[in-house]
Amino acid sequence: MWFIRGDVAATLEQFKGQADVIHCRCVTQHVKDPQSLVNLLADSLKPGGLLLLADGDWVVYDQSRRLVSPAKYDKATGKVIAEGDQSWYAGWLSLVGTGTRSAEYRRIDELVKGCETFDPANLDFHSYYSPVNWAGDDIEHGHELGKILNVNQRAFLSASRGTLRKLGIPEGIVDEWAMHYEDDLDSKHYYNIWYYMTARKSIRV
Ligand SMILES: C[S@@+](CC[C@H](N)C(=O)[O-])C[C@H]1O[C@@H](n2cnc3c(N)ncnc32)[C@H](O)[C@@H]1O
Repeated sequence: MWFIRGDVAATLEQFKGQADVIHCRCVTQHVKDPQSLVNLLADSLKPGGLLLLADGDWVVYDQSRRLVSPAKYDKATGKVIAEGDQSWYAGWLSLVGTGTRSAEYRRIDELVKGCETFDPANLDFHSYYSPVNWAGDDIEHGHELGKILNVNQRAFLSASRGTLRKLGIPEGIVDEWAMHYEDDLDSKHYYNIWYYMTARKSIRV
């Protein structure tokens, strides 16, 4: 096995029509032109080859799987609006999404449907709810998932502080927000959502 480091578009050129399987996880939403990336991944597959795409989303669901309203930073007053059921955790995720997601973002199933090279009879899309710091309702391996997501989302908190700073949020507010984010994880029953897509390249292309 070997690894190549570099821009995915430039790197893939050399693999045209060669791959049996491509797994691309949590990348399409970060590149400038996600549709071109998926078209290029399709070009890199052999006829009949399999593309596996996975991606996260920046929305949060409550225990009843209703969308949670995010807390918001109000630039004019320099204050955070977190009234009623507005969530600091959901607000942080929403901000990081704003700061990192491509302006051309589309969900992975739409990107695949936007590429004619895939066999429409061989597409499979699923959304999975992952409980954060609880076991979820009727979730297979929910207990383990809840623990993993708890560790993951606390690590994500420190890793993504820079994105909030880049968005112009003052350091003091970031500190306060981070504290409430952790409180939310400790006290609320949230789900994150993850998307998975498999698509087979048509045999005749
Ligand atoms: C959210 S991370 C996902 C990392 C890893 N695939 C995973 O699932 O854990 C997004 C990754 O996309 C990579 N990325 C973004 N734009 C890229 C590009 N144009 N070429 C190659 N990699 C890119 C970033 O370097 C980053 O590692």
